[in-house]
Amino acid sequence: MKLNFNLSITLTLCTLIFITSCAVKKGKKLSAKPALVQTFEKNFQDAALQYKLMMKNLPPERFPKTYHPTTDKFETSSSSWWCSGFYPGTLLYLYEQTKDQTLYDEALRMMKVLEKEKNNKGTHDLGFMMFCSFGNANRIEPKPEYKEILITSAKSLSTRFDPKVGCIKSWDAKENEYLVIIDNMMNLELLFWATRITGDSSYYKIAVTHANTTMKNHFRRDYSSYHVINYNSKTGAVQQRRTAQGYSDESAWARGQAWGLYGYTVMYRDTKDRKYLDQANHIAQFLLNHPNLPADKIPYWDFNAPNIPNALRDASAASIMASALLELSQYVDDALSKNYVHVAETMLQSLSSGRYKAAPGTNGGFIIKHGVGHLPQKSEVDVPLTYGDYYFIEAMARYKNKGIF
Ligand code: GLY
Repeated sequence: MKLNFNLSITLTLCTLIFITSCAVKKGKKLSAKPALVQTFEKNFQDAALQYKLMMKNLPPERFPKTYHPTTDKFETSSSSWWCSGFYPGTLLYLYEQTKDQTLYDEALRMMKVLEKEKNNKGTHDLGFMMFCSFGNANRIEPKPEYKEILITSAKSLSTRFDPKVGCIKSWDAKENEYLVIIDNMMNLELLFWATRITGDSSYYKIAVTHANTTMKNHFRRDYSSYHVINYNSKTGAVQQRRTAQGYSDESAWARGQAWGLYGYTVMYRDTKDRKYLDQANHIAQFLLNHPNLPADKIPYWDFNAPNIPNALRDASAASIMASALLELSQYVDDALSKNYVHVAETMLQSLSSGRYKAAPGTNGGFIIKHGVGHLPQKSEVDVPLTYGDYYFIEAMARYKNKGIF
């Protein structure tokens, strides 16, 4: 029975992969503007120089976290920080664009430091950490050891799933609490990959269950999302809907909205279930029609920040949204597709301007300025962020490749 189920999952997946790869190859819904591609080529070159500068400043075994322009302080982290996969991931994307071996070698060097996190069962962020790094490395140059690392990571992530709640636990908390954040949608891609490679459908089922529970409980009627859902760990009932990194419990924290958009776009890619496409489109409509989305399409850090138009922007949210919109544009009708591409172009054009893109040799080697990490905690406010860089490079590469890869 299990064998038959696995066989049918595998056959479905093969069909989906075929359909998706056809869509990707055609990329017919995106005709890249040559002038913009030229800007992006320059951005790739500039970014490579920035990262070569950054790598010189990294202490041994440490990962870049942020840079404080006012104090000239470069902050780093250990491999267990949720962002540790973005540095090697960005280097790998830049290597693909520039073919600069130094970038590739640096990515591999840091992935050796990162590898041990495959056994980390204390975080839900293994998708970010391991798939943005080893997932990309394996895509560029498949190796058995990368597969082992990714499968072990997927196994570790799966230990945080509780069928009673129907979610992977994001943050450990008090005994009766089970906290799940919208960001967790980004870790599911690793699980889909694991089912494709191993034929074990349990990863797939966890990802789908998590996404369904999140769709039910995280979203408001207007398709904005709460940041944190506090489930009762014994019954699985929702006991609180709140924020951690946003302005208020009822506000729309910009990066959270971006994670949701990206997450449900991936859900559609990996399942071809129409309800996830609808969800991604609803989220996109909320964002793109929001009166507080500025003309340059770089969101304020929270769509309901009280001091708009003087509120800080979060460039990282724009990077993530741009990349998601470019993929989503491949799955929808022509009119919608054109709109998504147009907004993504505006976002990327804005990020390429001097207001957001760092001048060579500045910004601690990061590419993009003006990200907001955790404003309520006054941490990483108006600074560069590793994921702002990662999704910026990914979005430009997607644009150049006419869709996704
Ligand atoms: N919690 C991950 C983020 O800051 O988006």
